[in-house]
Amino acid sequence: MFVNDYVNQLLKSKKRFEDDPDNFKVARWVTDGEGAILHMLGAAHTPQASVEVGTANGWSACWLASSEHSVYTFDTADRPKVYTDSGFENFQRLIRFQPRELLKEDLDKLKELDKKLYFIDGDHTSKGVKANWRLVQPYLKPKDIVVFHDATTEEGVVHFWLKLQETRASDFHFQTFKTERGIGVLRLK
Ligand SMILES: C[S@@+](CC[C@H](N)C(=O)[O-])C[C@H]1O[C@@H](n2cnc3c(N)ncnc32)[C@H](O)[C@@H]1O
Repeated sequence: MFVNDYVNQLLKSKKRFEDDPDNFKVARWVTDGEGAILHMLGAAHTPQASVEVGTANGWSACWLASSEHSVYTFDTADRPKVYTDSGFENFQRLIRFQPRELLKEDLDKLKELDKKLYFIDGDHTSKGVKANWRLVQPYLKPKDIVVFHDATTEEGVVHFWLKLQETRASDFHFQTFKTERGIGVLRLK
């Protein structure tokens, strides 16, 4: 299957969810533009796996998986998942969901992988996003990237993201995509 087929499948599915009042409502999706950025980051960066905090209905997990790598995704709430929709077999194969917080043990299991994409979109308070960052940071390898959603719009994330850029400029490269909600990306220098 070509990468574009995955993306087409996602956009068709989104339309179906929007049009069908009987379907569950998928809350807080990344927008199409932001999903496309997740897809492009995956396609350009070719991670061996993504680790996502904040699955919600699995929409961003699908965008991550659309560049054909495994996605380990964690959420304290277990909501219906968009990728259980018919025709999403490829996404079901790639996405592994755990209904709980991301733990150190999960990162220990993945530490042999040298190129990962972390997507942080869970607890949006400054304290919450910092806790996720503190968990992930010791595991970072030179080829990893960390992506934060809502980096320009959610107060707690904005505060965290600005502060990190101020205090860690010598350790990391930072890039901020000015999308609808803002996507922050960092990697080790
Ligand atoms: C904004 S939604 C995620 C949206 C999803 N990434 C998407 O774009 O399709 C945030 C999710 O984070 C979850 N969450 C909150 N605190 C969390 C934590 N400590 N660990 C994992 N998930 C958490 C919430 O239950 C919620 O489903």
